[in-house]
Amino acid sequence: TYIIALPCVDLKDKACIDECPVDCIYEGERMLYIHPDECVDCGACEPVCPVEAIYYEDDTPEQWSEYYRANVEFFDEVGSPGGAAKVGLIPKDHEIVAALPPQQQ
Ligand code: F3S
Ligand code: F3S
Repeated sequence: TYIIALPCVDLKDKACIDECPVDCIYEGERMLYIHPDECVDCGACEPVCPVEAIYYEDDTPEQWSEYYRANVEFFDEVGSPGGAAKVGLIPKDHEIVAALPPQQQ
């Protein structure tokens, strides 16, 4: 799967959403999260993010390695809706994101 990391927090550019053929990039309160079971690893989202927040799981920079867990666990309660557009904003974040001080100031 691909994952979204720290640079997305409090920015949410959303250019990535338009590129995903399976609509598996879901919006949380402070960042977006890629569904690990719905992502088909097409990679189309990765180059369009203006802040390079998106990585293939094995290529995630070491300092953001915990974001793999954040993307996966975000969906523990959400499940697998099969499409982000119909779900819209999910008013929560993974705990490691929720605990961050304001970013992008
Ligand atoms: Fe975030 Fe980049 Fe998408 S900032 S919303 S991952 S385009
Ligand atoms: Fe979509 Fe990016 Fe995966 S475009 S299918 S989330 S690699």
